[in-house]
Amino acid sequence: MPHGLSRRSFLQGSAVSGIGVGMVAQTSTADAAASRTGGAPVVGPASVPITLTVNGVARALQVEPRTTLAEALRGPLDLTGTKIACNRGACSACTVWLDGVTVCSCMMLAIEVGARKVTTIEGLARGDTLHAVQAAFIEHDAMQCGFCTPGMAMSCAALLEHTAHPSADDVMAAISGHFCRCGTYPHVVAATLAAAARPKA
Ligand code: FES
Ligand code: FES
Repeated sequence: MPHGLSRRSFLQGSAVSGIGVGMVAQTSTADAAASRTGGAPVVGPASVPITLTVNGVARALQVEPRTTLAEALRGPLDLTGTKIACNRGACSACTVWLDGVTVCSCMMLAIEVGARKVTTIEGLARGDTLHAVQAAFIEHDAMQCGFCTPGMAMSCAALLEHTAHPSADDVMAAISGHFCRCGTYPHVVAATLAAAARPKA
């Protein structure tokens, strides 16, 4: 040790300098992030509070910014009807509605949703009364393992929202992004056409 500098004061000085370096590094990182986003606020990496309106109910939750909508639904919101299969936008198992439009919830961050209304398979039924598409899926045996089924039902129900009397081709187009490894496509088409033919409640 140099004259007048104890081991303790040397270590204390190093620690303080280390903190100083860390603070500078952190500030630089934040500045760099802000400049990359054109001054837009940078969130995370810690969890942030958000509110999602899901099936008509405002739900407050805390998520890391990297959390997808699908993960938020299945995790903190405990809505496990929405399935995650490929987790990369290739199978549509995770389909939900955002303001009535179908989206792959694995391809959207929960913090991106904002004020838009999320509808999941749990929100299609009215109390104990199933949506016409859900009832028709059961009647027409339009599922086997069931993994793709909630996403399929969301897309078929969305189709009926804007096309009251679809053709088989319309239904095939609506489910064209959905992968069903069990091969239930003909039953899904039959079920959706049957749902469309039901008298409206
Ligand atoms: S799980 Fe989202 S598209 Fe496959
Ligand atoms: S019912 Fe099994 S993947 Fe479609």
